[in-house]
Amino acid sequence: MFGRIINPLLISLVPLAQLQPAKAAGDSWPISDSGYTDVVQWDHYSFIINGERKYLFGGEMHPFRTPVPEMWQDIAQKFKASGMNTFSFYNMWGMHESFPSQVDFTTAFRDYRRLLQYAEDAGLYVMARPGPYTNGELNAGGYPIWVTTGDYGSLRTNDTRYTAAWQDYMTEITDIIRDHQIHKNGTIISIQVDNEFPSQYKDRTAKTPNGPGIGYMENLEALIREQGVEVPTTANAPGHYPDWSKDYDTVGAGGDVDVWGLDSYPLCWSCNPDDCSSANDDFTLLKYYDYFQEVAPNQPGLMPEFQGGRVLPLGAESCEASVGPDFRNVYYRHNIDQKMSAQIMYMFAGGTNWGWIGVPFIGSSYDYSAPIAEDRTLRDSWYEVKNLALFTRVAQDLAKVDRLNGTDAVIDNDAISATELRNPDTDAAFYVVRHATSTEDSAESFHMNVTTSIGSLVIPQVISALPLSGHIAKIVVTDFTFADQQLIYSTAEVFSYVVIDNAPVLILWVPAGESGEFLLKDAEGGEILNCDGCSDVSFNQTVDGVITAFTQGEGSSLLKVGDVRVLLLDRVAAWHTFLPVLTKDPSAPVNQTIVVQGPHLVREAGIDDTNGLHVHGDTNATTEVEIFATSSVNRLWWNGKSTSFTKSSYGSLIATINGPDSYELPPLIDWKTHDTLPERFVNYSATSDAWVSADKGLYVDLYGPHHGFSLWRGTFNGSATGGVFEVQGGRGFAFSAYLNGQQVGSYAGDAGDASSTLSVSFENATIDSDGENIILLVQDNTGHDETSGATKPRGILSAALNDTSEAIQWKLAGTVGAPMNKTVDTVRGPYNEGGLVAERLGWHLPGFDDATWSVGSPSAGVQEATIQFYRTLVDLDIPEGHDASIVFTIATNNPTERVRALLYVNGYQYGRYMPYVGSTSSFPVPPGILDYSGKNTIAIALWSQDDEGASLDVTWEITSLTRSSLNSRFDGSYLRPGWSEDRNVYY
Ligand code: GAL
Repeated sequence: MFGRIINPLLISLVPLAQLQPAKAAGDSWPISDSGYTDVVQWDHYSFIINGERKYLFGGEMHPFRTPVPEMWQDIAQKFKASGMNTFSFYNMWGMHESFPSQVDFTTAFRDYRRLLQYAEDAGLYVMARPGPYTNGELNAGGYPIWVTTGDYGSLRTNDTRYTAAWQDYMTEITDIIRDHQIHKNGTIISIQVDNEFPSQYKDRTAKTPNGPGIGYMENLEALIREQGVEVPTTANAPGHYPDWSKDYDTVGAGGDVDVWGLDSYPLCWSCNPDDCSSANDDFTLLKYYDYFQEVAPNQPGLMPEFQGGRVLPLGAESCEASVGPDFRNVYYRHNIDQKMSAQIMYMFAGGTNWGWIGVPFIGSSYDYSAPIAEDRTLRDSWYEVKNLALFTRVAQDLAKVDRLNGTDAVIDNDAISATELRNPDTDAAFYVVRHATSTEDSAESFHMNVTTSIGSLVIPQVISALPLSGHIAKIVVTDFTFADQQLIYSTAEVFSYVVIDNAPVLILWVPAGESGEFLLKDAEGGEILNCDGCSDVSFNQTVDGVITAFTQGEGSSLLKVGDVRVLLLDRVAAWHTFLPVLTKDPSAPVNQTIVVQGPHLVREAGIDDTNGLHVHGDTNATTEVEIFATSSVNRLWWNGKSTSFTKSSYGSLIATINGPDSYELPPLIDWKTHDTLPERFVNYSATSDAWVSADKGLYVDLYGPHHGFSLWRGTFNGSATGGVFEVQGGRGFAFSAYLNGQQVGSYAGDAGDASSTLSVSFENATIDSDGENIILLVQDNTGHDETSGATKPRGILSAALNDTSEAIQWKLAGTVGAPMNKTVDTVRGPYNEGGLVAERLGWHLPGFDDATWSVGSPSAGVQEATIQFYRTLVDLDIPEGHDASIVFTIATNNPTERVRALLYVNGYQYGRYMPYVGSTSSFPVPPGILDYSGKNTIAIALWSQDDEGASLDVTWEITSLTRSSLNSRFDGSYLRPGWSEDRNVYY
């Protein structure tokens, strides 16, 4: 037994004055609101929602990248289960207004209300980011393609043509946002105005206003307010740009938002470091605090986007390992160190660039190495985020802290540093401890001097030293209040706490095998209730309470210290500890939260009127789960099924939950096939509704918004010896040229090139020197670039024949309906398809009759340069009560062959395989696109660019099978309308 232990040496090194807050009184900072509602307020510290300060920790997802509303619910539940409290998303203007004034917020996955409802059901605050411009590695940065033609003046200015263009979309989306604000029965707490638009000043230092940019922001803000959206407006600055911060705008330039924020991708947002002007080594940390002091001193530390993963561009190597659990651990704690009180990960769930919604240089995958993978599985990094998010959810004092200077000296090991954050009202402190050189991962031990309510202490006091090893940071708390209890300090990280039957359960975690200690104020005595991996546990009574020291190996131990139950977890046991909230209240009341340990995932929980506990979650193996809930619980229902349990000696419920049944996918066989390039032949007649005369020029979007394949069919009379064609299709695009049915040249693409010139000779082709000749240029269009690059045209930049004065008369077939501003597939929408005859006639759709086609598979392939279409039907019967992730793989047998393929699943173009330009070859497809309890139409367009032909192996596999509360067999038929006869006019 001993009292306070103070190391005199350390104390003498640290003048106490240095430990005082730089600014004493927290209330010297003004509390602001939007002027329209005070339900959401903010100050220098944090957002304040319904009068309560909140540490906002959240992530971004893109509804348009998972075009299945039922899966939004899956993702929303996985957000909530991660412990985060905030859901952020862009909207894609072009997805809702593919043609001018045809705004659609209701059909299928365009129903934005459903998304907001799922967020509300999960109990998540929402940060809405409707654009109009978003960026987001989207085709044209999210602009509808019709906006990119040059007809709408100067984009992102107050040009009246552009202003008129966004009115309809912004009016309808703000109608929805208005009705879902936090004070109108929803959970929306902010609205971001446009995105990454550093155009407030002509000269940033002199603060010379830039009228057209300011006019644009002011027009948007006026509409937002006229529409009744009252929550604060926000901005997302690309790195260090002060534009739109009220505090920086000392000249009254205008256009400022309520709360400014910055985005930061310290490792580069792309796996290709050349995509960033500065890419840092792994674990390099950047500073934000000083910059916020300079440009937004009256605002909370808001990061609307912080690195949540990295894009994998065409041709680059995957860099998933760089954003694994250790990245999450160190960087998100560092943001706390920098006094960021609202950090949103971009992306938390990436999704897929299905159809042609993505920017050219990426291809189909927007997995982003995010915590929730493209196939919806949970990466280890998801679990690691949870280890911090469940702490920020309950650490009320963290939402109001001053960042103190000069704290490095409190550590007696130069290899380690700590930043002290202190709540000016309660004096609670949070020390963010890490390697002083953040790129180091050496095994260190140290002592630190902390200032607590019982005076300055050197910790640890019982164990010999504090360990820090590997790429990991730690938050050491002092005077941490939980319920009616107080930790004077804890060297183990607080995972979270809950209050059960009016008594708190404190949960702490350490890396497996590490020791820790904590001093629980005024406690008396301690005992071990359950030791699973614990050792060296001692309860050391002091005048101030009990110092409990311990070592925790793999597992989860339970102690009782004074009146408090304390769960000790190692890192992985913490990963599998869930804290579902029994209500939808996004503030996650601690006395309405239970603890569930063991399973793969817990989505939600509730207690019914007769004290039955209902838990919904996923298991990937037979799992013993342990539940801490109110003692009045008398029945347990797991995924709706009554489940027996035993009670442990310390009151928890223990039950065994079955793992998944096994299920084998049927093979993809029985393919039928048909040529899908008849237009190359002379005897084809280009007279159907699919064709327009290209009399306005040779850019595809002059004839309505086009996506994917465009077919340029030209006629000319007499002879010519060859031609020169310059075609622009976006990075990674390709094109082929045919004369009278025979390929005369092709360009297979380059991940870096958006256009290319092909000189072709007609020497080996048959030319009709007296009659009409047909030249066919087949190009794909990988989409439009972002920002100002969006207006770069796609199509033929120049075309000339050699040795003739004859001109070519061109016709164009592309996305059907585009020339008439007509959406032919009103569910999947125009981004889904291009102008291959297979697409025009709907061969990719369920229900098309291929009875007359020949038998032939992609693995047999073709023996010439053409485009060949393949279809097969396959039944799925994923067992009830299971979730499965299904991933298609396309593989070439010859890595040097010039081949591309499009994968269609029940009519959705859900994969683009372009090995020559370094695309991915795996294509996850969610339920809803696939029918998990019915027949599925799988189709492939195989484009061979070589005369030798090409073949591809198309397979699929289950990457994860869990027993789950998610109903993956839901009726998604509304998402998969079938073929109809009106397609026939587009031959
Ligand atoms: C951000 C931008 C996002 C996205 C991201 C990179 O700066 O705001 O829209 O492009 O970079 O993935």
